Order: sequence, then C-alpha cells, then structure tokens
Amino acid sequence: MQLSQALPVVILSACSVVASVNPVTVFTLPGPVKPSSWFENLVVRPNGRILATRGDAPEIWQINPSTGAGEMLVSLPPSTGAFNLTGISRVHMGDGDEIYVFGSSHIPAPLQVTPGSAKVWTLEMANSGSASVSLLASIPAAGFLNGIAEWGRNGRVLISDTEREAVYLMDVATGSFTTPLTNLTGINGIKTVGPTHGSGCLYRADHMSLTLSRIPIDAATATALGPAELLADQQLIDDFSLKMDKHGDTGKAYLGTMYDNSVVEVAFGSQPSSELGVKTPIATNLTGTGFGLCTVTVFGRGRNKDKLYAAVGQGGGSAQIVVLDLS
Ligand SMILES: *[C@@H]1O[C@H](CO)[C@@H](O)[C@H](O)[C@H]1NC(C)=O
Ligand SMILES: *[C@@H]1O[C@H](CO)[C@@H](O)[C@H](O)[C@H]1NC(C)=O
Ligand SMILES: *[C@@H]1O[C@H](CO)[C@@H](O)[C@H](O)[C@H]1NC(C)=O
Repeated sequence: MQLSQALPVVILSACSVVASVNPVTVFTLPGPVKPSSWFENLVVRPNGRILATRGDAPEIWQINPSTGAGEMLVSLPPSTGAFNLTGISRVHMGDGDEIYVFGSSHIPAPLQVTPGSAKVWTLEMANSGSASVSLLASIPAAGFLNGIAEWGRNGRVLISDTEREAVYLMDVATGSFTTPLTNLTGINGIKTVGPTHGSGCLYRADHMSLTLSRIPIDAATATALGPAELLADQQLIDDFSLKMDKHGDTGKAYLGTMYDNSVVEVAFGSQPSSELGVKTPIATNLTGTGFGLCTVTVFGRGRNKDKLYAAVGQGGGSAQIVVLDLS
C-alpha cells in the first residue's frame, strides 16, 4: 500500500551492517515519465514471468526478468470501476490451471478510498498466453484490499483489508467469504505458510505499529489459534516475501520498506519466543535517486530463484522493477 502521509515518526534502530547488494533495474514502465506511477504487488508465474499490478492505473504488466521485456497484459476500462489494482496471488483451483486473484479499489488519492469500491477479480492465463479477467466479487463493505495470499491448495485465498483492519477468507469458486480475523490495525501485506496438520501461519505487515508478525491460524476457518508472535519492530514496512527453511517455522522475510526506499531482511527463529528476528538491510536507495518507495519483493523462479525482485516507484522516474542478486 502506498501512503504519503500519516507515517508514524520512528527512530529506526541502528543497523551497523552496510547494505551490500547493488540494485539493478530490470524494467521501467515505458512511455512518458510518470513520476507518480507505482506497482503495488508482484507475483511470479510458473514460467518465471513477473505479473505486476499498478496502483496508479487499472493495469497488470507482464515482465520477463531475464530479458527486461515487458508488456501490458490487462487494462480494465473505467466502466469496471477498477481504478487502482492492489494485491495479487496465484490460486490453485484444479490441475493444470493458472489462475490469479487480484483486488481493486478506487483510490483517487493516497489514503482516500472511495466507499463501496472494493472488488476482487480473477485472471486466468491460457496456455496460449492470453489472459482473461472476470469479476469475482464486489465487497461494498470493504475498503483497501491490500494483500492476497493463497490458503491451502483448495481454491481459497486470504485477503487483507487495511481500512477495515480485517482479513477475509474467500472461496474463489463462488466469491463467498468469511471474516476470520479482525482488529488488525495497520494490516498491509500478508503471506501464508501452510496449512499442514490442521493449521498454518498468517504473516502480516503492520505499517502503523511498524511491525512484522505472524498469527497461527486454523486450516479450515483461518481463525486465530493463538496470540500473534512479533518478528520485527521499529521497521517501516509495506509488503514482503518469505523464504522459509525446509522444516519448521524458521526463515527469512524480505521487506519492502515503503518510503525508506530499501529492502530489509528479517531472519526469524522458531517461536514462540520472545526474541525478535535479526534485521539486516540488504539494499538501499533502490530508486537510485535517494527518494521513492519500495512496495513489495518477490523471488524469481528456476535459474532466477536466488534473485529478489522489488517494485519501486515515485523516485522521480516511472515505476520500476529492480533485482537484487542474493546468490
Ligand atoms: C488511482 O488510479 C487513478 C487512475 O485510475 C489515478 O488517477 C490515481 O492517482 C490512483 N491513485 C493513486 C493513489 O495512485
Ligand atoms: C476489537 O477491538 C474492540 C475495541 O478494542 C473490542 O471491543 C472488540 O471486542 C475487539 N474484537 C475482537 C474480535 O477482538
Ligand atoms: C542514490 O544513488 C544515486 C545513484 O548512484 C546517487 O547519485 C545518490 O547520491 C544516492 N543517494 C543516496 C541518498 O544514497
């Protein structure tokens, strides 16, 4: 989520480690320079192409990170009411399908969401490469459908709503949903791990309290099974990616730090524990201009699996995707 005001003042804890990875631009939105453009969310297709939702336009772009070539894949007309696209996630409905769920709201200016404008869409990629978009659900009571994450492999997604401070569990076959989690002030990007053996975890950014935390949730209902566990604090944060270790609940999160224009790694241990994860800045000045925002990161696939892609914007030029080589 992009915010230009209302960021709490924070003294960032001192980090002595010097960020070492040099961000390299992979893709820049073509055409006349649009300094207010930004990508809100990224997802990587099985073939390695990146899908990027624009926060400042109802468009999804497809980028080949190996060549830097990119094209507009989806452009929704104004009549759809999908003015600003938000989170996107793959969802598995059946064998061989390639279906994504994405959100939209009408956000005429930062922090101003038009009431009743939130919608959830599906994007189906055919083998031919063509894309078809369908409206799945309008959710008039919702606000900013910020993050979307698949929950299990049975056609369900969790959707965070920053304005309503809630998480919805949606059945993508029908568009029906429940609201398993509420009172999540500042909720922004979300990711899931599991479920296995009846439960899993929702990882979530909170740009208000400047934290990354996780909540153990029930496999069937996605309701909380215990208190939230804090993984990082005093951290400007937007959306993020996770790289979990093979076993257990240890791993690393790679945070897009919003207006800090950087990527920070959080290495977290097994919980419950009172220990916070270890923060390391991976790369700073992502826009190369000393200002701008980083909304989200995502890992590549195949030979790009150790490459971390970050969406950056509002650094003076048009929205970009930069790569951090972590191999
Ligand atoms: C939302 O999208 C509209 C165009 O559809 C754009 O004019 C507006 O600036 C966008 N809002 C933000 C916060 O980028
Ligand atoms: C949410 O917070 C409000 C105010 O603190 C409280 O009254 C309410 O019970 C909470 N709801 C849940 C589901 O925790
Ligand atoms: C950001 O990078 C650019 C290009 O290397 C450099 O000119 C600028 O001084 C940097 N700004 C900061 C704040 O590091």
